Formats: sequence, C-alpha cells, structure tokens
Amino acid sequence: MSQSSDLKAFYDEAWGVLERGVADRRSPARHPTFATVSPDGQPQARTVVLRAVSRAERTLEFHSDTRAAKLAALGKTPLAAVHVWHPRHKLQIRLLCEVNVASGEAVRDKWEKVPDMSRAAYGSVPSPGSAIETATSYQHAPVLDQFAVLTCTVGEIDLLYLGDQHQRAVFKRSDGWTGQWVAP
Ligand SMILES: Cc1cc2nc3c(=O)[nH]c(=O)nc-3n(C[C@H](O)[C@H](O)[C@H](O)COP(=O)(O)O)c2cc1C
Repeated sequence: MSQSSDLKAFYDEAWGVLERGVADRRSPARHPTFATVSPDGQPQARTVVLRAVSRAERTLEFHSDTRAAKLAALGKTPLAAVHVWHPRHKLQIRLLCEVNVASGEAVRDKWEKVPDMSRAAYGSVPSPGSAIETATSYQHAPVLDQFAVLTCTVGEIDLLYLGDQHQRAVFKRSDGWTGQWVAP
C-alpha cells in the first residue's frame, strides 16, 4: 500500500495481506494461485481458497479433494508456489512452500467446521478430472475420507511492490527472514 524503506515493514505488510485473505471473502488474497509440478514434470496452476494463515509458524492452509490432480502432484513433489496479486496494496506475493497433506480422521475437526454447501467440493462422483458424458453428469457425495488439508510451510517469500518506485525483496527461512532487497 505504501512505499517502505524498511524490510520488516514490507514483510509484515505481506503477512497482513494474507491474513486479510482469510478474514475477508472479498480480499484478492482470498483466492491465491496454487502451483505444483505434475508427476510427469509439467507445471500446473489453479485457484484455491486461502483457509488459514499462521504468521508465527509461517504456514498457509488450503483444502482439497484427496483425488484431485494436485494431490497426485504433491505425492511426488511436495512443493507448491503460491501467488497473490493485491491491486490496492500494489503488491505481488510469491511464496515457495513445502506441503504436508492430511486427510481422514486426522482432519475430522476441520471437516466438521466446513459448511454443508462447501463440503460439496470434496467428493464428486466420478472423481475430479474424470471424463463425463455431459456437462452435468456428476454428483456431489462429500465424505470425510476425500477431504484433504494442505498445510504449506513457507520457505521463501518474494515481494514486489509496484508503486511509483518499484521495490522487491526476498525473505528466506534459511536466513531467519531478515530479507534482502533485490532489483525488481
Ligand atoms: C474461486 C475458486 C476457488 C477455488 N477453490 C478451491 C479450493 O479451495 N480447493 C480446491 O481443491 N479447488 C478449488 N478450486 C478449483 C480449482 O481451481 C481446480 O479447478 C480444482 O481443484 C482441480 O484442480 P487440480 O485438478 O489441478 O487438482 C477453486 C476454483 C475457483 C475458481
């Protein structure tokens, strides 16, 4: 939102934007792009809902169907790139994450908090990506066993601010998140 000469303020602004994405359905950070590498090495990107953020643990949480292609991708390469562009903040956030997938009984507490309407997204018949006869030849049959919680532990953050003077910085877990300005 504002020009910053302070790496920490820049970093804090990004986490504030991500937290807002969870709290505010209308925030552009509500719907990040989540990119993975398919089992045969192809890039894959799709929109997802940002369900939770922990600034303290530097984690993001997403939900999906256990049978979705992204889960097969994560089974082979448990890494994701997460992307947000927030026009009002003029801020692009790119995060590189290690992804842990949990499903079934281990996530029952989260499943029980998912509203019925949202549950429909986890458990279509046939499974996501299957060829079907017509556009509507599928049903919703949500079940706990097909509900996956993706916990993404952030390892690197690349921020780009597109104000009058562009600014970019990279923050790494391995550097204790001190950050480094880089040429945009
Ligand atoms: C606004 C929006 C929100 C979405 N949210 C999710 C989500 O939270 N989880 C999810 O698995 N798919 C979500 N999707 C669907 C995915 O973009 C994607 O089509 C689906 O998950 C299948 O992707 P895959 O075959 O690469 O796994 C969303 C799509 C849109 C347009």
